[in-house]
Amino acid sequence: MAYLLNANDYRAAARKRLPKGLFEYIDRGTEAELAMSDIRRSLDRIKLRQTVLTGHATCDMTTSFLDRSYPNPLIIAPTALAGLVSHDGEAKLARVASRLGIPFCVSTQSVTSIDDIRKGAPDSELWLQLYVWRNRELTWQLLERAKRNGVSTLVITADTPLSPKREYNQHNGFSVPFVPTLRGVSDILKRPVWLCSVMLRYLMTSGMPNYAHYPDAFKTAITRNAVAEDVKIENGLSWSDIAEIRDRWPGEIIIKGVLSVEDATKAAKIGADGIVVSAHGGRNFDIAPAPVDVLPGIVDAVGRQITIMADSGVRRGSDALKYLALGSRAVLVGRLPLYGLAAGGEQGAYDILAMLIDEMHSNLVFSGSDNLEVFGRNAIA
Ligand code: FNR
Repeated sequence: MAYLLNANDYRAAARKRLPKGLFEYIDRGTEAELAMSDIRRSLDRIKLRQTVLTGHATCDMTTSFLDRSYPNPLIIAPTALAGLVSHDGEAKLARVASRLGIPFCVSTQSVTSIDDIRKGAPDSELWLQLYVWRNRELTWQLLERAKRNGVSTLVITADTPLSPKREYNQHNGFSVPFVPTLRGVSDILKRPVWLCSVMLRYLMTSGMPNYAHYPDAFKTAITRNAVAEDVKIENGLSWSDIAEIRDRWPGEIIIKGVLSVEDATKAAKIGADGIVVSAHGGRNFDIAPAPVDVLPGIVDAVGRQITIMADSGVRRGSDALKYLALGSRAVLVGRLPLYGLAAGGEQGAYDILAMLIDEMHSNLVFSGSDNLEVFGRNAIA
């Protein structure tokens, strides 16, 4: 799509296509939305060194993390309800990841189950993001499903002890399961293409879209209350829960949402394979430090023991490079693939990530680098 040339273009297209409540759910932050602007400023502050007359105009972006080699250092982040942005959105993202040779992390709160995503994208490297539910038996059953579907890596989200205060969702009448309100319904009617291509398509096939991993009893209004407590995110999650999951899960474990050296050290000690230094895209804790400000200290403390990844605020290839320059081995992107999905379905999600990779490549070349493996803190001006 020739007119979609940067993340802002995709975002604008997504805003035109999605009902307001859904667009704001994916796009906005929490409380006063200070964290989002702080993340933006923290990335904008960093400059990379420019080295000229290098004799080359390409850079090898092959990289390795978690003992595997990848053509580039991106991961599609877990985003709840990606399947509402486009019909079967999670399977589409899994296929896009597979085409790009990168992992896709499925959210616990996906609209399509891990089993169906696997069917729709047999070759993709799937990771599962875990929100530990109050009912541990149901949580362990989800891990079994993940194992059966060849999930290599479990990403335990540690930064969500409570539901964040996102007032705009209430103003917009946006909730899952969808509860019809005058505002919510009128927003949807203003987006007939989304209504037909996403909502009606679900209604005519699998029924009202919902959290696919939740027990069936949760999905109907009549029986929901009976299991609602069971599938609430565990408010009291602690390091002993991580230790228990470490015992149960034979694959890799990544702790997502670490923003301090102390917590990173605990993650390494408890046997995690990696962490994501993440401010949850500015969606959870509005006065959290920006990842940029804590990443170097964390890398110095545990970067030789575990794999450090980072996310939040990546809108340009140069943003991803800044996380890499600060010592992150890989970078997760959340909103960008969702904007791409909204703007142009599977191809749109592919295109926006290909654009990001292109931008990363050109900035690497401008910086004078010919090999991502040797790109690091010495790249910072
Ligand atoms: C998220 N994120 C998220 N994280 C997580 O661990 N579990 C989840 O279910 C979700 N859901 C979710 C929904 C939506 C709509 C967004 C935008 C984000 C956070 C996500 O994994 C990642 O940390 C951020 O999105 C990264 O910031 P950017 O790339 O969106 O700026």
